[in-house]
Amino acid sequence: MRLVMIGSGYVGLVTGACLADFGHTVTCVDKDAARIDRLRRGEMPIYEPGLEGIAAQNVRDGRLSFTTDLTGPVKEADAVFIAVGTPSRRGDGHADLSYVYHATREIARALQGNTVVVTKSTVPVGTGDEVERIIRDERHNRDFSVASNPEFLREGSAIQDFKHPDRIVIGVEDEHARAVMAEIYRPLFLNKSPILFTARRSAELIKYASNAFLAMKVTFINEIADLCEKVDANVQDVALGLGADNRIGSKFLHAGPGFGGSCFPKDTMALVKTAQDYDSPLRLIETTIAVNDSRKRAMARRIIQAAGGNVRGKKIAIFGLTFKPNTDDMREAPSISVIQALQDAGARVSAYDPKGMEQARALWTDVAFHASPYEAAENASAICILTEWEQFRALDLQRLEKLVAQPVLVDLRNIYSEEDVTRFGFVYSGIGSRSGAPMHIADLAAARERLVEAV
Ligand code: UGA
Repeated sequence: MRLVMIGSGYVGLVTGACLADFGHTVTCVDKDAARIDRLRRGEMPIYEPGLEGIAAQNVRDGRLSFTTDLTGPVKEADAVFIAVGTPSRRGDGHADLSYVYHATREIARALQGNTVVVTKSTVPVGTGDEVERIIRDERHNRDFSVASNPEFLREGSAIQDFKHPDRIVIGVEDEHARAVMAEIYRPLFLNKSPILFTARRSAELIKYASNAFLAMKVTFINEIADLCEKVDANVQDVALGLGADNRIGSKFLHAGPGFGGSCFPKDTMALVKTAQDYDSPLRLIETTIAVNDSRKRAMARRIIQAAGGNVRGKKIAIFGLTFKPNTDDMREAPSISVIQALQDAGARVSAYDPKGMEQARALWTDVAFHASPYEAAENASAICILTEWEQFRALDLQRLEKLVAQPVLVDLRNIYSEEDVTRFGFVYSGIGSRSGAPMHIADLAAARERLVEAV
């Protein structure tokens, strides 16, 4: 099949490269000429494990190409995917659909054959109807179809998710679109990946409902973690017991500093706005957003307490800045609120992240970025692990203990246990266990002060 991907960002690139790998001929389009130049040179504008290799192979085999002009490729295409951004609209939190509609108008002007226009971008329910209306206005007597095909890829494991999906959701309103979409995904169909055909509006809503549910699940375990600290239970054990129930499932029960990223924050907000517009409020999701927002600054208060209660003029080392590992994406990362709150309290922040430093430098001029966690930790009054990168799981704690001003480790991802860390002389504060309880941290801080005074 001849396919066009409009938008060579995260979703467009991964989907385009993987569909080319299935044997389709894919043209990725982007308005950003510099980005297209980089892609033609084989450079990926984002960090995603495995993407560069797949893209290079398919470019070599002649199935994947990049261009700034959609006219030619769209004329010939069996299907055109819209994979442009749908950020939060400034001011009101609705999804900003201006890029989607702009791309639709350009596609409409170029369409020739009986092409299927597919929304891959995350778009509010009913957007497919508007896309159809825009194209019909431009080309009244032509046949075309509009389908919805939401993506469920996770950053950091997007290639794996694409090739082994839990499900593929396709919303169609006619037989032609159904047949074309089935052909596009035939390789997965043969792999027995479940393909779910629905009406277009249902497919659009499945995407938002999925992200909102996952965001709610993470927020649920985060609140349970807070309770664990008060009642001397351990959230990791609670999550194990909870997740062992097949009806609940064990994934997305890892307590942490609150969800972030390019999707959950904007999608939960957009869904809440849609629901309000239809006079059918989603109060669980409204609460999820509010609980998650306040959690991030609460994490900063926890670090401050663990560091002794007053961090004015003191250095705090942050390990991990991106919203999760295996990505360089800083969008809505918890580190943004946490660092702001630490700086508001007068702390000096030093940081290290394996992949996110380039994007992070654009956000802060007053954070000291370092080439390794050990450099970042020098003279720090506390170290905080904010992102669970693999390389932080095996830190040389003995070396770190000698470098820091105070051996305090605040582990907001629970990648260590108290026993792992205290034997190297560190005071440990994790999430959802006695080690993270406010009283425990206060006791430790007081003990440390007494120790410092005695010395
Ligand atoms: C999410 C969804 O998981 C994908 O299915 C979806 O396609 C994507 O959004 C999207 O809409 O494009 P992603 O944002 O890449 O994917 O990241 P997740 O792995 O879902 O993590 C989201 C946030 O939740 C991160 O901040 C992560 O640290 C947090 N999280 C996740 C937890 O705190 N605990 C968990 O147990 C799981």
